Amino acid sequence: MVVNTYTPLRFTVFISFPLAAAAKLSASHSPPPSSLPKAATADDLLSVLGPPSAAYALSPSVSRELRSCLKFLVPFESSKPKFESGRCSLLTGLCSGKNDAVEEEENSLVWWPPEGVLELARLAVDSGGDPGSIHRALDPSIIPVPRRDSQLTRTPYGRHFIAQEVNSYFEFLFRLIESRGPSVGFNVSLSRYDLFHGHLFIATESGRLGILFHAKEYPAYDKKAFPYNMGYCQRGSDVKYGDSINLRNILWLAPLPNKSGTGWLAPGVLVVLDAHPDGIIYRDLIPNYVKFVRTIYEDDLGTTVVDVNYLNVGGAGEPDYQLFIC
Ligand SMILES: *[C@@H]1O[C@H](CO)[C@@H](O)[C@H](O)[C@H]1NC(C)=O
Ligand SMILES: *[C@@H]1O[C@H](CO)[C@@H](O)[C@H](O)[C@H]1NC(C)=O
Repeated sequence: MVVNTYTPLRFTVFISFPLAAAAKLSASHSPPPSSLPKAATADDLLSVLGPPSAAYALSPSVSRELRSCLKFLVPFESSKPKFESGRCSLLTGLCSGKNDAVEEEENSLVWWPPEGVLELARLAVDSGGDPGSIHRALDPSIIPVPRRDSQLTRTPYGRHFIAQEVNSYFEFLFRLIESRGPSVGFNVSLSRYDLFHGHLFIATESGRLGILFHAKEYPAYDKKAFPYNMGYCQRGSDVKYGDSINLRNILWLAPLPNKSGTGWLAPGVLVVLDAHPDGIIYRDLIPNYVKFVRTIYEDDLGTTVVDVNYLNVGGAGEPDYQLFIC
């Protein structure tokens, strides 16, 4: 009985404050209150990372809170003009050397990827968000995933894109995340327990192509910190469950094509989504049942097209990373 009378009371109190505030403000012809908490959506996140015109439509407070949770691996340039680039060899994964020119070159590969990747980005939009448009860009030959790793992937075999530069580009993204992670306080390694996969999606509203990478996939069992048994894939894990779990969702967005022309509305983006428990990403974009592991779901961002896996299939001491599109 106590619970029954208490619950409606709490409810009344909860709704009456905002109503009273709104009534008072409208009487004095003030703009609607922007300080009322409003849940952010995955679409809001994509808008913040889109052209300035998309970001204007957002509530300033949501936009500000989202921005405070973004840790860019490549500087965000919402209106960077497209220019010719591509002096780096994608085939070696990263550009060699470590000077400013190299860093700038890697940045520009994220802002303006090679032609094959731009074509996919345009296909996604022109097809009205049809995953089949991307599937048709895959080479039909199948590549078996080594037995040892086959539980890591959605299917026990993978494929490649017909355009080799697309495959090389996705490998480049994995390596860039690994090499730039520390610049935002994120130690991440390309291993079967940490970063080995991402989900390629087409965003629902804009048709923008993207990949949501998930790092720290199999933290080691720990009686106190991570008391979860995840079976075979977790065995041997050296990933410690700790604050780094906040940074496990990494987002790549392809440049956004202009639907009504041949131009582009926004350059590409590579960003770590910080899901620390005080932030809006943790609060609004992570479902309650996975708060502990901070998982943002690719389905919330759009239609999933394929998984992009990058696995070390080499023996001990002889790394050999290969791409499997599943
Ligand atoms: C990342 O790794 C380096 C080298 O092992 C270590 O010195 C540093 O403290 C680590 N940083 C974080 C944020 O864990
Ligand atoms: C998109 O392309 C059309 C046709 O070329 C052009 O008129 C329009 O200004 C472009 N939109 C933007 C935002 O650049």
